[in-house]
Amino acid sequence: MITSTGSSASSTLTVGTRVFGVLGTTAILKGEGALCEYICISPKQHVVMPVPENCTLEEAGCLSIGGTMAYLVCKNGGITENCGLRILVNGASGGCGTIFVQAAKAMGPAQIVATCSTPNFELVKGLGADIVIDYREKQPLHEYLAKEFGDRKFDIVVDTAGAQELYENSPAYLEEDGVYVNIGNLTNGLWLTAFHWFMNYFRPVWLGGTPRKFVMFGPTVRSEAGDWVTRLVAEGKVKAVIDRSVSFYQVLEAFDVIASKRTRGRMVVKVADD
Ligand SMILES: NC(=O)c1ccc[n+]([C@@H]2O[C@H](COP(=O)([O-])OP(=O)(O)OC[C@H]3O[C@@H](n4cnc5c(N)ncnc54)[C@H](OP(=O)(O)O)[C@@H]3O)[C@@H](O)[C@H]2O)c1
Repeated sequence: MITSTGSSASSTLTVGTRVFGVLGTTAILKGEGALCEYICISPKQHVVMPVPENCTLEEAGCLSIGGTMAYLVCKNGGITENCGLRILVNGASGGCGTIFVQAAKAMGPAQIVATCSTPNFELVKGLGADIVIDYREKQPLHEYLAKEFGDRKFDIVVDTAGAQELYENSPAYLEEDGVYVNIGNLTNGLWLTAFHWFMNYFRPVWLGGTPRKFVMFGPTVRSEAGDWVTRLVAEGKVKAVIDRSVSFYQVLEAFDVIASKRTRGRMVVKVADD
């Protein structure tokens, strides 16, 4: 909620407006964050926008990063209105996956196939996935995908789990002109991920590179992404999935849950009472 404004604040951001947003990378690198009761925001460096009326503050807090990711994936993957593409989402039940599946569904793809653990099947189906696969039961996953979808390959793979083996074996289930998007998961550690990123982008096929386009995002702040997700929420096409809300005093427990990689949607930390 805005408590005071400077002279450069836009007319939509007035005192009393409920807002949500994303902090710019420089702020994060300087150790600044949103785990505080008050924060001074410059719209030039951060993204800040009004919360849609049909959305609570807790829900809005879940939408910013996942919404930015979903926007960038759609942009880079060519997912547009009525695109009719076939999409695989690996890791659909987490903070980013739950937003992306809904946003992609709203675009009208031909089919969304998603992976998660069995307890999250109903959640992911309810978000719009046509087929749901338990990645823990179907191992190795790339072999299962090749067997099931090798004759009707995907146009886009969105991998929120950073599965390098899945990318290396993607020609068996991803179209030749398809795109493999890793949203920036550092599962293998920073240096190994950076190595894979370099090799996936630059190693030519004749040196053993995988003959499929690889895209990986860094954290970027885009105001148009905020507008895009706000519209989808206001139209009722995207809704936040909240694993649980905890108080400021439980923040370390919240980080433990996030680190366990078992979050169902997003964790919310309430820094103050309503
Ligand atoms: N580049 C950026 O700016 C940026 C922004 C946001 C996030 N990210 C990165 O993107 C990744 C995903 O973010 P997130 O917020 O969605 O994470 P998250 O909420 O922590 O993801 C948890 C989900 O991951 C699923 N999962 C765990 N291991 C899996 C596996 N081996 N295969 C498939 N699914 C698996 C779990 O599903 P089940 O419990 O159903 O098994 C759980 O629902 C993170 O590594 C994050 O750091 C990058």
